[in-house]
Amino acid sequence: MGSVYAIANQKGGVGKTTTAVNIAACAAASGSQVLICDLDPQCNATVALGLDRDVRPSSYDCLIGDRSVAEAARPAGPDNLWIVPANRDLAGAAVELPRIEGSDRNLRQMLGPVRERFALTLLDCPPSLGPVTVNALVAADRVIVPVQAEYLALEGLVQFLDTLQLVRRELNPALVLTGVVITMHDERTRLAHDVERELRDHFPELVFRTVIPRNVRVAEAPSFGLPVVEHAPGSRGSAAYRELADELAEREGASRVSVERSNDAQASPKAQVEVEK
Ligand SMILES: Nc1ncnc2c1ncn2[C@@H]1O[C@H](COP(=O)(O)OP(=O)(O)O)[C@@H](O)[C@H]1O
Ligand SMILES: [Mg+2]
Repeated sequence: MGSVYAIANQKGGVGKTTTAVNIAACAAASGSQVLICDLDPQCNATVALGLDRDVRPSSYDCLIGDRSVAEAARPAGPDNLWIVPANRDLAGAAVELPRIEGSDRNLRQMLGPVRERFALTLLDCPPSLGPVTVNALVAADRVIVPVQAEYLALEGLVQFLDTLQLVRRELNPALVLTGVVITMHDERTRLAHDVERELRDHFPELVFRTVIPRNVRVAEAPSFGLPVVEHAPGSRGSAAYRELADELAEREGASRVSVERSNDAQASPKAQVEVEK
């Protein structure tokens, strides 16, 4: 059974798409079958992997419940990497979805057998807490939250965690927060160090060890239609994303063990909390 991750944060420009595309590329390069599902009407992940914005079927058709994810998935370029592209139609989904009864679960239903077909599925969320992000959080097993090392990062994260609690309580109790990744860290600035310290003080277990530096190679990679790990494999940004992918695999292994243990122990509330750390 593969893992389905939502890459989410209600703020735009924090590195969600960059993180999704590069974790996906690293996992695909190591031989896993990987699917990235672009859920943002800006289509940034789609374009970053060299596809057009008007491809059909798209993630819109899956969200609306018209097409399965398997039908909408297509090869993304690098070996083992597949994408469900976004399309401009998606801009309407935030208005249409609330009109459809029970639509919170559409994406989960449309994923179906894709959960087994791909070792890793990454849902690249739009910058909002609207119905599309809720669909992703209902479809996912786990969440990764990219946070930009800048002023008010902690406030934004706390707001996101509140929403996550709500989704867990109402819609997807099994959803696990895997971790928070600090992105666009500019090590020359004091602010970046202060923000990192604050995040680690508040959430010592949650914040990934790996920090993604601000790096020009990362910023330019989408204009070449490539993940930075392919565009500039020797860059610092690339090295950081490879390290993050390794750390993620490590965390996933660890949480698998505790999920198995908690199943043995009839999923006691304490075991559940341990899994969520
Ligand atoms: N580590 C980084 N260094 C420099 N630029 C980055 C880095 N990560 C992301 N960017 C750039 O910042 C912008 C926002 O990143 P993106 O991943 O699209 O954020 P989001 O998906 O959260 O809106 C993009 O132009 C991207 O290329
Ligand atoms: Mg994005």
